[in-house]
Amino acid sequence: MPTVSVKEKNKDGLVSEEVEVVLEVQVGETLYDEIAAHGHKLPHGCLSGSCGACRMVVLKGEQFLSPPSEKEIQTLKNIFSNYRQKFGDSFIENKIIRLSCQSKFIDEDGDLEIVPAP
Ligand code: FES
Repeated sequence: MPTVSVKEKNKDGLVSEEVEVVLEVQVGETLYDEIAAHGHKLPHGCLSGSCGACRMVVLKGEQFLSPPSEKEIQTLKNIFSNYRQKFGDSFIENKIIRLSCQSKFIDEDGDLEIVPAP
């Protein structure tokens, strides 16, 4: 069964290696729903792929997620545009950002590491 490691950021905004929840998830369900089913709430808003509040940085295992839908791609474009305006291009270099309310696990054996995005 695939696992998801949900990391947190410390007060300095850095990914903490100490605060981590590791969960087993079902293939084919959204990450948000699977993580919530284990009692761990991620940031969220619309839960329909439009607002971007559920954005997460994928630290490892992005290949185990379903490809983004057109709706998710459009929302991610808006998120990246906002990041560029606020923090500059370097902020998003080499970052993989997905929406937890839209991303589904597609591999029985994959492991994923995520942290809620700023
Ligand atoms: S909660 Fe709004 S896009 Fe995921």
